[in-house]
Amino acid sequence: MIENSIGDTLLRIHNSLRSQFHQLCRVAVAIYDQPSDTLKTFANSTDGESPLMFYEVKLADVPSLQQLARDGKPRVLDDLDILRRANTLHSRKIVEAGYHSSYTEPLIFDDQLVGFLFFDSDKPCYFNQRVIDKLQPYAKVLAAIVAVQFAAIRTLSGAVTVAREFSRHRDEETANHLRRMSTYSRLIAKTVAPGFGLGDEEVEFIFNFSQLHDIGKIAIADAILLKPGKLTPEEYREAQAHVARGVEMAQMMIKEFGLERIRHTDMLLNIIGCHHERYDGSGYPNGLKGEAIPIEGRIVAVADVFDALTSERPYKHAWAVNDAFAYLLRNAGTQFDPVCVEAAFACAEEFKQIQARYRDEPFLPEEQSSS
Ligand SMILES: [Fe+2]
Ligand SMILES: [Fe+2]
Repeated sequence: MIENSIGDTLLRIHNSLRSQFHQLCRVAVAIYDQPSDTLKTFANSTDGESPLMFYEVKLADVPSLQQLARDGKPRVLDDLDILRRANTLHSRKIVEAGYHSSYTEPLIFDDQLVGFLFFDSDKPCYFNQRVIDKLQPYAKVLAAIVAVQFAAIRTLSGAVTVAREFSRHRDEETANHLRRMSTYSRLIAKTVAPGFGLGDEEVEFIFNFSQLHDIGKIAIADAILLKPGKLTPEEYREAQAHVARGVEMAQMMIKEFGLERIRHTDMLLNIIGCHHERYDGSGYPNGLKGEAIPIEGRIVAVADVFDALTSERPYKHAWAVNDAFAYLLRNAGTQFDPVCVEAAFACAEEFKQIQARYRDEPFLPEEQSSS
């Protein structure tokens, strides 16, 4: 059985609360990523349109929430009008959406901050003690659900990272390639999200899982992966097998770590399994065509090729960004999903910033010395 996503859980909780609390208009979860000190919108159940999606902010830039995380205590704001002059976008959006009071609970599991749970009402002073007493148990349950889902995914990513570290010297792809291509993937996913019914949750998983697209390369012989010249047809077939090997490895790990019940592991398998499919059906391993290729596969294919083109490899110079975009455009509809290419193009400025932020050169000596 597949477990419900956090979004589905929120929806169910909100629905059951609504019968008692008519003016509870919104329940939302933001997740916290400790290494980057980032808080990201993740799931919400909102009457009407959500005022805040695909949003992230450094926790250090929101001292009030930082304080909640430190104290582990909830916060009630009886009149959100005080946020009107706030200098953070999220505060302004919440006020502009017509919410008047809020109740925020830090989600803490095993002494670690995993995120925040927000309840909003269109009525001022809505969250009195009686209401809070009813809401608090839900916060505990949600903290556990969020923590468990992410712990499982982190375990999986951790195992893969270790495996990658061992094999890094065999692969020309650096840790920065993974950072760049996963960030490109997230940008494309965010941009195409409305058209494909993707929410924050899916975008986050695409970001996390895209880093694992080539794990199957671990199983491919050095002589092929590192061969400086052209591969023979036989060698090329063997190199292509990294997709099937990757899917097998991911399936094994999903089983090993008991992740079968976690929603979205299918996205991981699709990303690994479909990142070399081509939109016109001429890709591998299955020659899937157009919409038959899962959207996460189509997104990652664009991000991966863009980064390969703009990176230096032993056998090629790095292409200029504009040349790489021209390549994507030329091959939209044949190699790539045109919608994903268009999305990448719309984010051209961000792509350039990512490239500058995660340049290969300054990181290489340090990273190579560890391998
Ligand atoms: Fe690959
Ligand atoms: Fe790659």
